[in-house]
Amino acid sequence: MAKINCIGILTSGGDAPGMNAAIRAVTRAGIAAGYQVKGIYRGYEGLIHGEIKRFTTESVSNTIQQGGTILRTARSKEFMTVEGRQKAYEQMVDAGIDALVVIGGNGSLTGAREFAATYDIPCIGLPGTIDNDLNGTDSTIGYDTTLNTIVECVDKIRDTASSHERIFFIEVMGRDAGFLAQNSAIASGAEAAIIPEEQTTVDQLAQFIGRGIRKTKSSSIVLVSESPKCGAMYYAERVRNEYPDFDVRVSILGHLQRGGRPSAYDRILASRLGVGAVNALQEGQRNVMIGIRNDELVYVPFSQAIKSDKPIKKELIDVLGILSI
Ligand code: F6P
Repeated sequence: MAKINCIGILTSGGDAPGMNAAIRAVTRAGIAAGYQVKGIYRGYEGLIHGEIKRFTTESVSNTIQQGGTILRTARSKEFMTVEGRQKAYEQMVDAGIDALVVIGGNGSLTGAREFAATYDIPCIGLPGTIDNDLNGTDSTIGYDTTLNTIVECVDKIRDTASSHERIFFIEVMGRDAGFLAQNSAIASGAEAAIIPEEQTTVDQLAQFIGRGIRKTKSSSIVLVSESPKCGAMYYAERVRNEYPDFDVRVSILGHLQRGGRPSAYDRILASRLGVGAVNALQEGQRNVMIGIRNDELVYVPFSQAIKSDKPIKKELIDVLGILSI
């Protein structure tokens, strides 16, 4: 196995609170272990174009509390092509980078897997996404902060919902996963969550109304996972047509969910995973994501991490159903 001298770090895809804590951890743990560390700007896009800078321990000072990513990020179309990945490889060789730590979500780790399949470069992934949709890890960097942000917003919307006795459909992010909607619904005491995982099995709106919610409550909050066709607007329109007695409003939380200071949980998670990434490289690991299971760090092969079928526990669906009567 070739000796590693220099680790490159990049963040890719949607930014997530706690990414800076992860960059800081990889940088400092890498330097402590005797590696040179280089920051790659704007994700794979910046790698292709050689936007690379040597990092010192000071480069990451005063960043653990900041949201976003100091390395910037991008969703690179060029890196999806063979030619793009070849250019990225050439830039890495030029910069003397011989191992890569990629902090990102599903698309980013899919990119890392493709890259590692062609080039003999050890790649380590860190789960960085608000969506919590990566397999093999109980949580992803950014998920906890976003959950808390959503709950804070829902608490505020609840005040006006109860004053006006309205139903609110609140749309949250998550891409194809319902973790944010389901768990923020539980945490904010919402009446229901409409999530993609349940979409094919039941009509979640009919189920919610069918519970006779009006008998016990004058207002309701329903968390809805984003969806191009069946988002909050779709359900609000259905209620207007099918249940015209209800006074309905929609609130789409949007990108405010991705910003803000990371929670203590995300900072600690990111710090542990970042140190874990450097340890993994020292142990000769390659092409794995570092995850956390039952409070222990685990190595998850990329192909397993990116499978888009991370299940939502049935227990969570039951808890919300029981507590929202
Ligand atoms: O993957 C993170 C995420 O915030 C998703 O929840 C959302 O669907 C998507 O990114 C939005 O991406 P963009 O910021 O590119 O619009």
